[in-house]
Amino acid sequence: MTSELSPIDKAKFVAAKQATEYVKSGMKVGLGTGSTAAWLVQCLGEMVRNEGLQIKGVPTSNRTANLARQVGIEVITLDEAKWLDVTIDGTDEYDDDLCLIKGGGGAHLQEKIVATASDQMIVIADASKKVDTLGAFPLPVEVIPFGMRTTQSLIAETLIGLDVLGRDITQRTVGDAPFVSDEGNFILDLHLKRIGDARQLSLILNQIPGVVENGLFIDICDVVIVGHGDGKVDVRDITKGTEDQVRFDVLDDENLFADLTD
Ligand code: A5P
Repeated sequence: MTSELSPIDKAKFVAAKQATEYVKSGMKVGLGTGSTAAWLVQCLGEMVRNEGLQIKGVPTSNRTANLARQVGIEVITLDEAKWLDVTIDGTDEYDDDLCLIKGGGGAHLQEKIVATASDQMIVIADASKKVDTLGAFPLPVEVIPFGMRTTQSLIAETLIGLDVLGRDITQRTVGDAPFVSDEGNFILDLHLKRIGDARQLSLILNQIPGVVENGLFIDICDVVIVGHGDGKVDVRDITKGTEDQVRFDVLDDENLFADLTD
Protein backbone atom coordinates (compact mmCIF):
# COMPACT_ATOMS: atom_id res chain seq x y z
CA MET A 1 0.00 0.00 0.00
CA THR A 2 2.81 2.39 0.91
CA SER A 3 4.40 1.94 -2.47
CA GLU A 4 1.15 3.08 -4.09
CA LEU A 5 1.47 6.54 -2.54
CA SER A 6 3.49 9.10 -4.45
CA PRO A 7 6.24 10.99 -2.54
CA ILE A 8 4.00 14.05 -2.53
CA ASP A 9 1.12 12.13 -0.95
CA LYS A 10 3.49 10.69 1.65
CA ALA A 11 4.65 14.24 2.38
CA LYS A 12 1.08 15.45 2.80
CA PHE A 13 0.23 12.46 4.96
CA VAL A 14 3.11 12.89 7.42
CA ALA A 15 2.40 16.63 7.72
CA ALA A 16 -1.24 15.83 8.49
CA LYS A 17 -0.29 13.07 10.93
CA GLN A 18 2.05 15.41 12.82
CA ALA A 19 -0.70 18.05 12.99
CA THR A 20 -2.96 15.63 14.88
CA GLU A 21 -0.58 16.14 17.86
CA TYR A 22 -2.27 19.51 18.30
CA VAL A 23 -5.75 17.98 18.60
CA LYS A 24 -6.99 16.76 21.99
CA SER A 25 -10.31 15.35 23.17
CA GLY A 26 -12.88 18.01 23.91
CA MET A 27 -11.55 20.40 21.26
CA LYS A 28 -13.49 22.18 18.57
CA VAL A 29 -11.42 21.90 15.41
CA GLY A 30 -11.60 23.81 12.12
CA LEU A 31 -11.16 21.37 9.25
CA GLY A 32 -9.54 22.77 6.12
CA THR A 33 -10.18 21.99 2.47
CA GLY A 34 -7.96 20.45 -0.19
CA SER A 35 -5.92 17.32 -0.70
CA THR A 36 -3.61 17.88 2.30
CA ALA A 37 -6.47 18.76 4.62
CA ALA A 38 -8.27 15.62 3.42
CA TRP A 39 -5.40 13.55 4.87
CA LEU A 40 -5.87 15.35 8.17
CA VAL A 41 -9.60 14.58 8.22
CA GLN A 42 -8.80 10.93 7.49
CA CYS A 43 -6.23 10.81 10.31
CA LEU A 44 -8.61 12.45 12.80
CA GLY A 45 -11.43 10.13 11.74
CA GLU A 46 -9.17 7.17 12.39
CA MET A 47 -8.40 8.54 15.89
CA VAL A 48 -12.11 9.06 16.57
CA ARG A 49 -13.00 5.54 15.50
CA ASN A 50 -10.06 3.67 17.03
CA GLU A 51 -8.61 5.77 19.83
CA GLY A 52 -11.65 7.36 21.45
CA LEU A 53 -10.76 10.90 20.36
CA GLN A 54 -13.77 13.15 21.00
CA ILE A 55 -13.85 16.31 18.92
CA LYS A 56 -16.33 18.52 17.15
CA GLY A 57 -15.28 19.57 13.65
CA VAL A 58 -16.19 22.75 11.80
CA PRO A 59 -15.61 22.10 8.08
CA THR A 60 -14.58 24.84 5.65
CA SER A 61 -16.47 23.45 2.65
CA ASN A 62 -19.22 21.05 1.70
CA ARG A 63 -16.51 18.64 0.46
CA THR A 64 -14.81 18.57 3.84
CA ALA A 65 -18.13 18.28 5.68
CA ASN A 66 -19.02 15.19 3.64
CA LEU A 67 -15.61 13.59 4.23
CA ALA A 68 -15.64 14.39 7.95
CA ARG A 69 -19.04 12.76 8.40
CA GLN A 70 -17.93 9.75 6.35
CA VAL A 71 -14.92 9.12 8.60
CA GLY A 72 -16.92 9.53 11.81
CA ILE A 73 -16.15 13.08 12.94
CA GLU A 74 -19.04 14.99 14.53
CA VAL A 75 -19.69 18.04 12.39
CA ILE A 76 -21.08 21.30 13.79
CA THR A 77 -21.46 24.77 12.29
CA LEU A 78 -19.20 27.68 13.17
CA ASP A 79 -22.15 29.43 14.76
CA GLU A 80 -22.73 26.41 17.00
CA ALA A 81 -19.03 26.30 17.89
CA LYS A 82 -18.71 30.10 18.26
CA TRP A 83 -14.92 29.81 18.72
CA LEU A 84 -12.44 27.06 17.88
CA ASP A 85 -9.37 25.70 19.63
CA VAL A 86 -7.47 25.10 16.44
CA THR A 87 -7.89 25.11 12.67
CA ILE A 88 -5.70 22.91 10.48
CA ASP A 89 -5.66 23.57 6.74
CA GLY A 90 -3.50 23.31 3.64
CA THR A 91 -2.14 26.19 1.61
CA ASP A 92 -1.20 27.05 -1.94
CA GLU A 93 1.80 29.17 -0.94
CA TYR A 94 3.44 30.31 2.29
CA ASP A 95 6.33 32.69 2.89
CA ASP A 96 8.84 33.21 5.71
CA ASP A 97 6.35 35.25 7.76
CA LEU A 98 3.76 32.47 7.35
CA CYS A 99 1.60 34.67 5.14
CA LEU A 100 -0.39 32.50 2.77
CA ILE A 101 -2.18 32.33 -0.55
CA LYS A 102 -5.18 30.04 -0.26
CA GLY A 103 -8.25 29.33 -2.34
CA GLY A 104 -6.91 27.03 -5.04
CA GLY A 105 -9.89 24.88 -4.17
CA GLY A 106 -12.22 27.88 -4.09
CA ALA A 107 -12.93 27.60 -0.36
CA HIS A 108 -10.85 30.50 0.99
CA LEU A 109 -13.87 32.51 2.18
CA GLN A 110 -15.03 29.90 4.67
CA GLU A 111 -11.40 28.96 5.37
CA LYS A 112 -10.52 32.51 6.38
CA ILE A 113 -13.60 32.94 8.56
CA VAL A 114 -12.96 29.64 10.35
CA ALA A 115 -9.20 30.20 10.78
CA THR A 116 -9.76 33.70 12.14
CA ALA A 117 -12.22 32.32 14.69
CA SER A 118 -9.58 29.96 16.12
CA ASP A 119 -7.03 30.23 18.91
CA GLN A 120 -4.46 28.80 16.54
CA MET A 121 -4.16 28.15 12.80
CA ILE A 122 -1.84 25.38 11.68
CA VAL A 123 -0.92 24.97 8.04
CA ILE A 124 0.09 21.58 6.68
CA ALA A 125 1.98 21.40 3.42
CA ASP A 126 4.58 19.70 1.32
CA ALA A 127 7.81 21.56 0.64
CA SER A 128 6.69 22.79 -2.80
CA LYS A 129 4.39 25.35 -1.15
CA LYS A 130 7.24 27.46 0.29
CA VAL A 131 8.01 30.66 -1.64
CA ASP A 132 10.31 33.62 -1.10
CA THR A 133 7.64 36.03 -2.30
CA LEU A 134 3.92 35.31 -2.64
CA GLY A 135 2.27 35.58 -6.04
CA ALA A 136 3.43 32.83 -8.39
CA PHE A 137 0.20 31.02 -7.52
CA PRO A 138 -2.74 33.01 -8.92
CA LEU A 139 -4.48 34.90 -6.12
CA PRO A 140 -8.14 33.82 -5.81
CA VAL A 141 -10.67 36.57 -5.19
CA GLU A 142 -14.28 35.60 -4.47
CA VAL A 143 -16.77 38.05 -6.00
CA ILE A 144 -20.54 38.16 -6.01
CA PRO A 145 -22.11 37.30 -9.40
CA PHE A 146 -24.00 40.63 -9.61
CA GLY A 147 -21.92 43.08 -11.67
CA MET A 148 -19.00 40.67 -11.76
CA ARG A 149 -17.44 42.24 -14.88
CA THR A 150 -17.59 45.68 -13.26
CA THR A 151 -15.91 44.31 -10.16
CA GLN A 152 -13.26 42.73 -12.37
CA SER A 153 -12.60 46.11 -14.07
CA LEU A 154 -12.30 47.82 -10.71
CA ILE A 155 -9.80 45.20 -9.56
CA ALA A 156 -7.82 45.64 -12.80
CA GLU A 157 -7.71 49.43 -12.34
CA THR A 158 -6.66 49.05 -8.72
CA LEU A 159 -3.79 46.73 -9.64
CA ILE A 160 -2.24 49.39 -11.89
CA GLY A 161 -1.12 51.38 -8.85
CA LEU A 162 0.18 48.40 -6.88
CA ASP A 163 3.51 46.59 -6.56
CA VAL A 164 2.73 43.45 -8.56
CA LEU A 165 4.49 41.91 -11.57
CA GLY A 166 1.49 40.62 -13.56
CA ARG A 167 -2.03 41.96 -13.90
CA ASP A 168 -3.98 39.32 -15.84
CA ILE A 169 -7.31 38.32 -14.35
CA THR A 170 -9.21 35.18 -15.32
CA GLN A 171 -12.54 33.87 -14.16
CA ARG A 172 -12.32 30.38 -12.72
CA THR A 173 -14.34 27.83 -14.66
CA VAL A 174 -15.27 24.18 -14.48
CA GLY A 175 -15.31 23.07 -18.09
CA ASP A 176 -17.29 25.77 -19.88
CA ALA A 177 -19.27 26.85 -16.81
CA PRO A 178 -18.24 29.37 -14.15
CA PHE A 179 -16.91 27.86 -10.94
CA VAL A 180 -19.43 28.55 -8.18
CA SER A 181 -18.28 28.61 -4.56
CA ASP A 182 -20.17 27.03 -1.66
CA GLU A 183 -21.56 30.52 -0.99
CA GLY A 184 -22.86 30.83 -4.57
CA ASN A 185 -20.16 33.28 -5.70
CA PHE A 186 -17.64 33.38 -8.55
CA ILE A 187 -13.84 33.31 -8.30
CA LEU A 188 -11.47 35.62 -10.17
CA ASP A 189 -7.84 34.44 -10.29
CA LEU A 190 -5.32 37.28 -10.28
CA HIS A 191 -2.09 36.30 -12.08
CA LEU A 192 0.20 38.66 -10.22
CA LYS A 193 3.44 36.62 -10.46
CA ARG A 194 4.98 38.56 -7.57
CA ILE A 195 3.17 40.43 -4.77
CA GLY A 196 5.36 43.22 -3.38
CA ASP A 197 3.12 44.16 -0.44
CA ALA A 198 0.63 41.41 0.41
CA ARG A 199 -0.78 43.21 3.45
CA GLN A 200 -1.61 46.34 1.43
CA LEU A 201 -3.02 44.32 -1.47
CA SER A 202 -5.30 42.33 0.81
CA LEU A 203 -6.72 45.46 2.46
CA ILE A 204 -7.26 47.26 -0.85
CA LEU A 205 -8.90 44.33 -2.63
CA ASN A 206 -11.42 43.86 0.16
CA GLN A 207 -12.49 47.51 -0.15
CA ILE A 208 -13.70 47.04 -3.74
CA PRO A 209 -17.50 46.67 -3.95
CA GLY A 210 -18.41 43.18 -5.13
CA VAL A 211 -15.32 41.57 -3.63
CA VAL A 212 -16.28 39.16 -0.89
CA GLU A 213 -12.83 37.94 0.16
CA ASN A 214 -9.35 37.46 -1.23
CA GLY A 215 -7.08 34.45 -0.66
CA LEU A 216 -4.31 36.25 1.22
CA PHE A 217 -3.99 35.11 4.83
CA ILE A 218 -1.90 37.70 6.67
CA ASP A 219 -1.04 37.25 10.37
CA ILE A 220 -3.49 34.36 10.66
CA CYS A 221 -1.22 31.30 10.53
CA ASP A 222 0.76 30.42 13.67
CA VAL A 223 2.43 27.12 12.78
CA VAL A 224 3.52 25.51 9.53
CA ILE A 225 4.11 21.76 9.37
CA VAL A 226 5.99 20.68 6.25
CA GLY A 227 6.08 17.02 5.32
CA HIS A 228 8.65 15.31 3.08
CA GLY A 229 8.35 12.15 1.04
CA ASP A 230 10.90 10.32 3.22
CA GLY A 231 8.84 10.77 6.41
CA LYS A 232 10.71 13.82 7.69
CA VAL A 233 8.56 16.66 9.05
CA ASP A 234 9.61 20.24 9.81
CA VAL A 235 7.54 22.17 12.33
CA ARG A 236 7.88 25.94 12.60
CA ASP A 237 5.96 27.83 15.28
CA ILE A 238 6.13 31.54 14.55
CA THR A 239 4.48 32.50 17.86
CA LYS A 240 6.95 30.54 20.00
CA GLY A 241 9.84 31.16 17.62
CA THR A 242 10.70 27.45 17.49
CA GLU A 243 11.74 25.12 14.67
CA ASP A 244 11.70 21.35 15.18
CA GLN A 245 12.13 18.28 13.08
CA VAL A 246 10.52 14.87 13.54
CA ARG A 247 10.71 11.71 11.52
CA PHE A 248 7.86 9.29 10.94
CA ASP A 249 8.34 5.55 10.72
CA VAL A 250 4.71 5.12 9.80
CA LEU A 251 5.58 5.07 6.12
CA ASP A 252 6.34 1.40 6.60
CA ASP A 253 3.09 0.69 8.42
CA GLU A 254 1.07 -1.05 5.73
CA ASN A 255 -2.03 -1.33 7.91
CA LEU A 256 -2.21 2.36 8.71
CA PHE A 257 -1.99 3.33 5.08
CA ALA A 258 -4.45 0.63 4.15
CA ASP A 259 -6.89 2.14 6.61
CA LEU A 260 -6.37 5.70 5.41
CA THR A 261 -6.51 5.09 1.72
CA ASP A 262 -9.51 2.77 1.64
C1 A5P B 1 -8.86 25.39 -0.74
O1 A5P B 1 -9.64 26.47 -1.13
C2 A5P B 1 -7.44 25.80 -0.62
O2 A5P B 1 -7.22 26.91 0.17
C3 A5P B 1 -6.57 24.66 -0.18
O3 A5P B 1 -6.44 24.59 1.20
C4 A5P B 1 -5.25 24.85 -0.75
O4 A5P B 1 -5.48 25.05 -2.13
C5 A5P B 1 -4.32 23.66 -0.57
O5 A5P B 1 -4.79 22.57 -1.26
P1 A5P B 1 -3.93 21.27 -1.46
O6 A5P B 1 -3.65 20.73 -0.10
O7 A5P B 1 -4.80 20.35 -2.26
O8 A5P B 1 -2.70 21.66 -2.17
